[in-house]
Amino acid sequence: MTSPKPLPKIHRSVLILAALSVIGIYLFATAPADLDDRVGDRRDVPVETLFRLLDAENASIRAIYTAEIVTPGLKRGLAYREDWKIRDVHAGPLPALFLRETANRLQQRMPELSLFLGSTYPIEASNHFKGAQLAYFEKIEQQQQPQFFIDESTGRHTAMFPDIASAPACVSCHNEHPDSPRKDWKLDDVMGATTWSFPRAKISTDELVAMLAAYRTVALDAYDSYLKKTETFDPAQRPRLGDRWPRDGLFLPDARTFRERVETKNSTASLNLLLQIRPPPERGPAVENRPAALAGGSAPENAGTAP
Ligand code: HEC
Repeated sequence: MTSPKPLPKIHRSVLILAALSVIGIYLFATAPADLDDRVGDRRDVPVETLFRLLDAENASIRAIYTAEIVTPGLKRGLAYREDWKIRDVHAGPLPALFLRETANRLQQRMPELSLFLGSTYPIEASNHFKGAQLAYFEKIEQQQQPQFFIDESTGRHTAMFPDIASAPACVSCHNEHPDSPRKDWKLDDVMGATTWSFPRAKISTDELVAMLAAYRTVALDAYDSYLKKTETFDPAQRPRLGDRWPRDGLFLPDARTFRERVETKNSTASLNLLLQIRPPPERGPAVENRPAALAGGSAPENAGTAP
């Protein structure tokens, strides 16, 4: 018989705030002080927590977009191309371009935070890793684990998460692409890494919530820009917008339907991550039942924040 252990080293309000943020209650982004006095403006959340939560968001949206829009969309005659933005090109963004669209918008809203999808066998040469990122990517290929480090050349805190060939379309499209330097990708290969960077080691919960909210907003805006583009398609190729998905025919979910799908999937993913995450192995032994997302595995710095 063991009695339930208290959550060590994590201020309960911090946990609640972060959990609320990932389940889509962004109201609190503007008024967290009402929840608990001043918990929001202390800078005690490790940036690694931000990176892990952003990555969970990004991975879910990337999976929805690839598996539920692009893959069935291709079968229905929808096209996805690099040059999708050009006038008279009746196509939507490839998954990597959807990410870049998101990254560009994020840069405008949150200039300190940056997002990049790179590889060592890129279709687009400018996506090739350089410097420290190149060295850490080798580790990711060997270990399939995210890497957290300070990039000495920029002084920025950096996180790289493996980008896995999770759908047959990833493999076939890259293997068949004329500019791809590699033609033998297989399912579950590490094709690249989603790379985030930020200038500071610690952030406040207000900032955490604001950045997660900003990320979700810009990802939904990126989808909206695809929907707007479909208005210019030939009537015969134009998908009907509404609550149906390409698996059912020449349809695309409208902005609300897409948002609801993202909210359902991401909230579960992010919340699970928040509650189950373990410290990375190189930072010390994993501790059972310890939701380290908010402690970030660097216990000594957080020792004073226990409720
Ligand atoms: C229909 C074609 C297509 C599909 C499907 C596709 N990609 Fe790509 N991918 C591309 C193209 C084209 C680029 C280069 C885009 C650019 O940056 O201009 C790219 C870029 C990338 C990059 C950045 C490095 C590079 O090659 O330039 C990674 C990593 C990547 N894709 C992984 C994936 C993964 C993982 C999936 C599945 C979840 C996927 N791709 C699905 C065509 C595709």
